[in-house]
Amino acid sequence: MGSAVTDPTWRLRTTRLAVALLLLALAGWSGDFLFGVFNKYRHIDAATYTMFWERRGWLWIHLAGGGLTILLGLVQFLSQWPRACNRPHRWSGRVYLYGMLIACTGATGLIATSPAPFSIRAAFAATALAWLCTALVGLVSIRRGRVMQHRRWMIRTYLVTLAPVTFRLLLHTPGIFSVLPPPPAGIAWLLWISWVLPLALCELVWRLSDLARPLHPTTAAAVTVQPQSRM
Ligand code: HEM
Repeated sequence: MGSAVTDPTWRLRTTRLAVALLLLALAGWSGDFLFGVFNKYRHIDAATYTMFWERRGWLWIHLAGGGLTILLGLVQFLSQWPRACNRPHRWSGRVYLYGMLIACTGATGLIATSPAPFSIRAAFAATALAWLCTALVGLVSIRRGRVMQHRRWMIRTYLVTLAPVTFRLLLHTPGIFSVLPPPPAGIAWLLWISWVLPLALCELVWRLSDLARPLHPTTAAAVTVQPQSRM
């Protein structure tokens, strides 16, 4: 007689519940972040925009693309498109990638014109690079028909997308600067931690679940689709 913990149905249900709760929490934090941002920057005056006033064009480009990626990423993960009808998934995936390119264009303009110290600008540049690389690998994976690989890379790219949301959560964590160096160096640390930590935690969860449930070769083959069957 197996215990509830070793029962595969129980494990599947528990995992699904945990993922659903995590997605709901992410939706809440992201919604709160986006609402705060757009509520703030709808007042178009120098007092609100402070150091962004002279470069508000770059900020608007950045916010348009960034907002789109946060929203579309949530839609992709919250809605489980049936495999027989993945057209909406493919289209919103494409728009997500365009949104990311728009946000990165804005981010490049902001980095180039930022008065922030080099450590902060380098941390932003590394975030943008991680964002583009994870998305590119996700795109190449699905073009080659590797569904499981695509899934994992798109989860990674979305964790990088959520870096500003994570950054804000960490920034408001009481006593954070007693653990990290004081700003501005501490801000650069926080920018790195905002995406490296979620990626590391996610990797750890995957490793542990892979160990608990080794992927059988036939199962691995079942999650690879022929590239032409997606068209
Ligand atoms: C993940 C890749 C991202 C990178 C590399 C990035 C980069 C940047 C950079 C360079 C700045 C200007 C900082 C400065 O001039 O000191 C900035 C500001 C900002 N970004 Fe992003 N960003 C990313 C994602 C996002 C997303 C997805 C959003 C969602 C809308 C977003 C919202 C903002 C906001 C609201 C600001 C202004 C910050 C403030 O009000 O103090 N960013 N970002």
